[in-house]
Amino acid sequence: MRATEALKEDHRVIERMLRVLFVASQQLQRGEEVDPQIFSKALDFIQNFSDKCHHHKEEDNLFPTLQQRGVPKEGGPIGMMLVEHDEGRQHVREFASALDKYEKGDRSPAVKNGIISHVMSFVQLLSQHIDKEDNILYAIADDVLSAADQADLVHRFHEIEENTIGPGTHERYVKMVDDLERAVQRQSSRT
Ligand SMILES: [Fe+2]
Ligand SMILES: [Fe+2]
Repeated sequence: MRATEALKEDHRVIERMLRVLFVASQQLQRGEEVDPQIFSKALDFIQNFSDKCHHHKEEDNLFPTLQQRGVPKEGGPIGMMLVEHDEGRQHVREFASALDKYEKGDRSPAVKNGIISHVMSFVQLLSQHIDKEDNILYAIADDVLSAADQADLVHRFHEIEENTIGPGTHERYVKMVDDLERAVQRQSSRT
C-alpha cells in the first residue's frame, strides 16, 4: 500500500465522523436534546484520531518529504493545508469550550449556537480540505515520491499509530464511529 492510500483510508473514517457531527448539530438546531456523549466522543476522535495522529502523519512526515522532493512549502498546497489544519484547531477549541458548558447542563442559546456554528464550520472546512488533499496534494505526492519514499512513510505511519496514540487505538476509534453512527440514527428515529 502507498502512503497516500493509507492517508486516504484515514480520510474515509474521518468523513464518517464529520457526518455524525453534522447530523448531531442539525438535531441540536431543530431544538432536540442531543446526548452530550455523542459530541464528547466525536471531540475525542477529532483531537486524537484526526489531529494528533492523522495530521501528525501529514505535518511531520508527508509534507517534509514532499519538500525534500521539491514541492515548495510557501505559496502552494502544503502551506494552504497547514493553514487549514490550524483553522480547524481553532474551531475545535471553540467547540470544546461550548461543549464543556453543555455537558454541565447549560442549554442556553449561546452555548447551543456555539456548538452548532463551530461544528458546522469545522465540518465544512475539513470536508473541503480532505477533498483537496485526495485530489490535488496526494496526486502531486504520487508523482514526486519514489516507491521507497512511499514505503518509508508507511513504516513511519505505523510507528506513529503505535507510539503516539497507542496499539489498538486506531481500531478503537473506528469502532467509535460505528457506535456513534447508530447513536445519531436512534436519536433521529425518536423524533
Ligand atoms: Fe490535512
Ligand atoms: Fe489529511
